[in-house]
Amino acid sequence: MTSGRRRASVSLLAVATLAAAIGSLAAVPTVPADRCVDPAEDGPSPDLYCMELVAAPGLDGVAGHVQLDFVPGPFTISVTREGRQIYRPQLTVTGLPPVQDIDSTARAYVAWVTTPVFSPMINLGEVANGTVTLPPVSFDQFVIIVSAERSASVTERRGRLVLRGGSPSTRLQPPDFQQFSLAVMGSALDSTMMHGHSQHVPATSDSLAWTTVPMPAGIGMLPSEMALRPGATPFLPQARGRLPWSQRSQFTPLANGDTLTLRAGLVRRRIHGREYVMYAFNGQTPGPLLQVERGAVVTVRFINELDQPSTVHWHGLRLDWRMDGVPHISQEPVAPGASHYYTLRFPDAGVYWYHPHVREDIQQDLGLSGNIRVNDPASAIPEKLLLLDDLLIGSDGLVPFGRDHATHALMGRFGNVMLVNGEPAWTGQARSGATMRYWFTNASNTRTFNLSFTNARMRLVATDLSRFERQQDVESIVIAPAERYAIDVTFTGGRSHLMNRVRALDHVFGRFIQQDDTLGSVTVAGVRNNAARISADVAVVADTAFTVELASNPDLTLAFGLRVDGLPFITSRMMLLDSSYFHPVEWSGTMVGMNWATTTAQAKWFVRDVATGRENETIDFRVRQGDRKRIRLVNLRNTLHGMHHPIHLHGQRFLILSVNGVAPSVRAWKDTILLPAGSAADILVEFDNPGRWMLHCHIAEHVESGMMTTFEVEKP
Ligand code: C2O
Ligand code: CU
Repeated sequence: MTSGRRRASVSLLAVATLAAAIGSLAAVPTVPADRCVDPAEDGPSPDLYCMELVAAPGLDGVAGHVQLDFVPGPFTISVTREGRQIYRPQLTVTGLPPVQDIDSTARAYVAWVTTPVFSPMINLGEVANGTVTLPPVSFDQFVIIVSAERSASVTERRGRLVLRGGSPSTRLQPPDFQQFSLAVMGSALDSTMMHGHSQHVPATSDSLAWTTVPMPAGIGMLPSEMALRPGATPFLPQARGRLPWSQRSQFTPLANGDTLTLRAGLVRRRIHGREYVMYAFNGQTPGPLLQVERGAVVTVRFINELDQPSTVHWHGLRLDWRMDGVPHISQEPVAPGASHYYTLRFPDAGVYWYHPHVREDIQQDLGLSGNIRVNDPASAIPEKLLLLDDLLIGSDGLVPFGRDHATHALMGRFGNVMLVNGEPAWTGQARSGATMRYWFTNASNTRTFNLSFTNARMRLVATDLSRFERQQDVESIVIAPAERYAIDVTFTGGRSHLMNRVRALDHVFGRFIQQDDTLGSVTVAGVRNNAARISADVAVVADTAFTVELASNPDLTLAFGLRVDGLPFITSRMMLLDSSYFHPVEWSGTMVGMNWATTTAQAKWFVRDVATGRENETIDFRVRQGDRKRIRLVNLRNTLHGMHHPIHLHGQRFLILSVNGVAPSVRAWKDTILLPAGSAADILVEFDNPGRWMLHCHIAEHVESGMMTTFEVEKP
């Protein structure tokens, strides 16, 4: 053991050490101070997170730009409860003459923010030459203006315009008619290009065919896009004989030394009155809720009764790497009819989950996921575990999957039916004034949720592998695939709805659309007062107290991007037009037809070691057990479709140091980080668990298309 690993010691001394450690972390430069002027090769995209300001005619010496930072919070992006992105603008201006020189009645330069239609116009305060941090801004598209005004506190802009610039999102424009016609013509002229390999797809025995894909409300599709079909054989599980109905998840306590039999098999499920053939663990949706004591050792006998090979991965557990369920790395896939033993250990309290690590796009989506609660004896607050998912259902039933290659390889398969614990309308009970703890796990293929409860206060308590060092009140929680968050919810009366509220980006028409989904509701009755108080978590504070010296440069820089091969003309054309802007998070499945019809044979997502240029499995990253490494994760903007990636490290834990140079407001141990489009994040990984492990994007279609690598933690 090295000296920095005294994680059991809980003392005021440790708190002091943490303060010192954080102090030294903060002192380490992450990215250049002004990223607009001096964009780093391996830093955030200046094109998405900076705006150039243009000087008004006659003011030639004046120049300015705005750096768009995320507001520090517990998540890697900041959004409002409605889902609007919040930025903290840093305005830099040079060459401003004394204000009376440009207008004798003016007394102050004032910065404003407004929308592209110039309403409302909000005074952000007085500015001068140099750099100033302006109040947060949360418009989808906005314009920042500097003008010369009679006083700094004017509420209407009357004075002379000095500088002006639009947010990166204002570049979104409806494509012009010529482009449209080009795209349509191109597709009509060359149907081979448009259909990809789809003509060569053999018919399946059960004559499953691609029909169409359902559209979300308010989103348009081009006629030429409507003709696209995936170049893969359609697949859905077929019932042989009568299948059992799926049951609700059963609470399954396991004691040290116990053995659990876990069968993956086919079930019938009823959703909104219609019947579907799906998958389940032990016939339950979600799979059995396993509860164990911290430190226990449990055996699982996994039996594969699916129609395809599988494994079980125990997401987030720092277990023996040979039990990690990764095909061809820690084990061979378990063939249909075969079984496999896993020995699990649980070193950290918290909430974990299990899912297959073979064709997650199919197996996890069809219902193979379940939670593990590793007991936390300190908590007296009543708790509920809620597993989030979404399912894509069309008029003919479930939209088939690709048998040989995954469909939806661009953005991942967004569902149109949201599920909480497998139900489209989850219901709960609570008492008014009482506090409930909800643990959320996002088991969906690609959807990031922005969750909130109406008529309630929410306080963020814990995430993947630990509690936060401090609890924090939040407006909403942003949860990407594979992440877990715990919130304490105090209901203030009346009925409460669990909402997902996001801004969807209609790529075709270049506009933002509000999408509000009600995932469930809580009946609030009676009155009780156990409202929890804000507390600092001494154990976690001590735990995150690294005493290591941090190098200012990352030990490893990984870049994430996309390469395409043989995309239909219409798709590449539209994607190119769309690439003028990428939103930090792709909240919703727009560009529906193009996304659906693109398979993992055409879209190749990659992770690249920037130093060596090696990609995916060929990256050779080795560390020693006990090492702490700073890793920079760069989400490439310069790629045909830039989007967020939830990056997951197996078997270890890490702290998020910064996103685009901004440190989060509170820390906790994580195993998955949401990496916004075009951003650069630094994480500090504690490599404590020896073995061969995986690092990958947790969007099921992205890992399926190759966005993964392995690393080796060697015993000293
Ligand atoms: Cu839950 Cu390799 O992932
Ligand atoms: Cu990804």
